[in-house]
Amino acid sequence: MKSFPTLWFMIVVAALLVSAAPPSAKDKGTPENPWIIGMSQCNLGEPWRVQMNADIKSAADTTPSVKVIYKDAQNDTLRQRSHIEEFIGQGVDLLIVSPKEAAPLTPVIRNAYKNNIPVIVLDRRVVGEDYTCFIGADNKKIGEAAGRWIAKKLNGKGNVVELKGLMTSTPGQDRNSGFRKGIEGTQIKVIFEADMRWLEPNARKEMESALARFDKIDLVYGHNDPAAHGAYLAAKAAGREKNMIFVGIDGLPQEGQAYVKQGILQACFEYPNGGREAIETAVKILKGEKVPKEITLKSRVFTPENIEKGGEWLPSEESAKPPAKLPETKI
Ligand code: FRU
Repeated sequence: MKSFPTLWFMIVVAALLVSAAPPSAKDKGTPENPWIIGMSQCNLGEPWRVQMNADIKSAADTTPSVKVIYKDAQNDTLRQRSHIEEFIGQGVDLLIVSPKEAAPLTPVIRNAYKNNIPVIVLDRRVVGEDYTCFIGADNKKIGEAAGRWIAKKLNGKGNVVELKGLMTSTPGQDRNSGFRKGIEGTQIKVIFEADMRWLEPNARKEMESALARFDKIDLVYGHNDPAAHGAYLAAKAAGREKNMIFVGIDGLPQEGQAYVKQGILQACFEYPNGGREAIETAVKILKGEKVPKEITLKSRVFTPENIEKGGEWLPSEESAKPPAKLPETKI
């Protein structure tokens, strides 16, 4: 039997503990007590990702119910994994992750999801379906549209260099397979292909090798605009840029669209970053509303003919594709 003073002491301590406990997600979502969102960005070294964070920030700035904490993994998968673990440890209300690679980041994202932290996966996919919502454009469709555009431009025949994005990330895989489908049945030959891992300096180096090996290159298909631009610079240094066409993907106004206006790229396919949609979807999830498992963003093609009119939308008859099936590997 406990004495009265001890019992009172225990009651007071319990009451204090309850009042000091962090509010559950249900009591949050006010300007005084906003929901905390952890945003794990794989790399801020590229303009496209800087824009993604800026779009998240401007959407969050006008949404007083949320506060976003950002971490930049600086293109390092292990660091990104630690960042997500730190967010889980901190008890964030929701996670937004734009993962560097699919397989190595799947287990940690699954862990958050299984521990009831809603997860929005942005732009690059993970393996399987252990997340709340995926937001991104359809990379297979973009690749295929690029393939068809290229086939038409080259009259169904020619030598192409393909500078691929990181092939352990799903946009790299899908922009490759979509493109190959788009040129099927033509006489277009991919005479050189290399993984430039999304980075312009790598693309430039790879293009130097392609130029050294092949006298006739009709077109360069870069999986992003930095790759197409790096290839252009390599060709220009060799005095050969006028003999070939350059095509890229991303379409930022200050990057890809500007290259089209300057005559550096002949086509550039838009890859929207989904930052604003991520915040809108996060709020719905945190309010307890149902959201779709997949949100597919639309994209446009920019060419010298249509750039002043704001580009042309790709036909949207194809809806979301099922997630790429990748073997899950440990790091
Ligand atoms: C930036 C980037 C973009 C590309 C996207 C694919 O890191 O390489 O250029 O479209 O990632 O995930």
